[in-house]
Amino acid sequence: MALPAIPLAIIIFLIISYKLYQKLRLKLPPGPRPLPIIGNIYQVKPVKFRCFYNWSKTYGPIFSIYYGSQMNVIVSTTELAKEVLKENDQHLADRFRTRSSASMSRGGKDLIWADYGPHYVKVRKLCNVELFSPKRLEAIRPMREDEYTALVESIYKDCTKPELKGKSLLVREYLSSVAFNNITRLAFGKRFMDSNGVVNEQGQEFKKITHDGIKITAKLSIAEYIPWIRWMFKVEQDALDKFAADRDHLTRVIMEEHIKSGNTKQHFVDALLTLQKQYDISEDTIIGLLWDMIAAGMDTATISTEWAMAELVRNPRVQRKAQEELDRVVGPDRIMTEADVPKLPYLQCIVKESLRLHPPTPLMLPHRASANVKIGGYDIPKGSIVHVNVWAIARDPAYWKNPEEFRPERFMEEDIDMKGTDYRLLPFGAGRRICPGAQLAINLITSSLGHLLHQFTWSPQPGVKPEEIDLSENPGTVTYMRNPVKAVVSPRLSAVHLYKRVESDM
Ligand code: HEM
Repeated sequence: MALPAIPLAIIIFLIISYKLYQKLRLKLPPGPRPLPIIGNIYQVKPVKFRCFYNWSKTYGPIFSIYYGSQMNVIVSTTELAKEVLKENDQHLADRFRTRSSASMSRGGKDLIWADYGPHYVKVRKLCNVELFSPKRLEAIRPMREDEYTALVESIYKDCTKPELKGKSLLVREYLSSVAFNNITRLAFGKRFMDSNGVVNEQGQEFKKITHDGIKITAKLSIAEYIPWIRWMFKVEQDALDKFAADRDHLTRVIMEEHIKSGNTKQHFVDALLTLQKQYDISEDTIIGLLWDMIAAGMDTATISTEWAMAELVRNPRVQRKAQEELDRVVGPDRIMTEADVPKLPYLQCIVKESLRLHPPTPLMLPHRASANVKIGGYDIPKGSIVHVNVWAIARDPAYWKNPEEFRPERFMEEDIDMKGTDYRLLPFGAGRRICPGAQLAINLITSSLGHLLHQFTWSPQPGVKPEEIDLSENPGTVTYMRNPVKAVVSPRLSAVHLYKRVESDM
């Protein structure tokens, strides 16, 4: 054996011995047998939460798998979710960062990728108390109302075009625009799209940056989970540096525009610049937070509304019942506003039922253990990644009658909270890392749906029966429909002016 190989052999021997010792000493959750070096990574099917659900039937409600040498634990019941997100919350609140997410977040200087610690506590407080406070959400309501009417106007324009009469529209196209405008206006205080739907130069730059970000993070290699082979799989540092430079440049230009205008409004960029000294946050953190909102808020809002619309086209009974409620409360002579929502309980139940069956982040975001903990009687070593399968939990027949059925009435019969206090329904997670944008998201989804149902009727595309609408999912951290829903749309209200956008200059 060549001389330099001896220390390497000793290191490998020590690692293997340590792993064996750990395995024998600890009571680790059961799971599929991992292959040497790569673990179970190639056994996991693309739609992960379904694969994990199937594995939970074999290995139990808590099981472990390995990505390379990295242990991952998956829990699939209400009781275990409570152990993770309530009883052991503090020790399971870190994040696992790949090299690209570490680079993009500058080592977790934002919120999403930050480990739980003093920085996280400070920034989280800023989000809860300042950015997502009920007062601020109410102050920016005119902006959201503007976007709901813009959504309606664009659909009306298309569905009344003679050449499109009786043809189906791609629902996602309209929902993506409303989410794009809502979230960019919220974060940056700017509408990048003009009234004809044309995105301006800065908006194009923004879109390119988000597209590049997705492309970089999608290129994950197994080396992320096997630290000792990372040197063989270099990250594309040039692409990461360019992404960061482009993102920072665009954000700084927008921040400068806000500072110069001296006209502080309620958007996040204004709020963060105003609060920077008080909370002692760096420019990196401001930039990180603004882009966190884009990453976490834009797709999730589109996805949730698209799933709900698919269910409503599939279930004409539910659609009609929601429309009856809207007709009763709002009537035919005006459009609904967010102020109507408390008087629309059935509409609210539709949102819950849709998020129950189709949570946009079915495995939440993974948490990482900062200490050794016990879950379900098993040892979870420090550094393990823990996933809660909220998709499986919300379909558990132990808690849900006919769980596969889309039946909003179930929430009329029992009022179940979905903002982290009831562990049967956790689309936004629970505990200290619960989604800070939950209320905003609920407002966006409920009101978009309300407008779409009050102002239009939605039917399946010609030749498709409602029950034939495909409800399968695309792989990914966020779960889009595999086949975007298409629907034939017809206006319900007779007054044409109710289909015009009502602009707000917020
Ligand atoms: C239906 C829409 C949404 C769903 C289902 C959703 C769900 C979630 C979930 C499951 C998490 C992870 C919780 C955890 O790690 O335990 C999360 C985190 C987060 N969400 Fe949302 N979200 C939605 C919309 C939004 C919106 C609109 C925003 C902001 C504009 C937002 C901002 C965030 C942020 C910043 C985090 C990171 C929190 C942290 O790490 O502490 N989300 N969201």
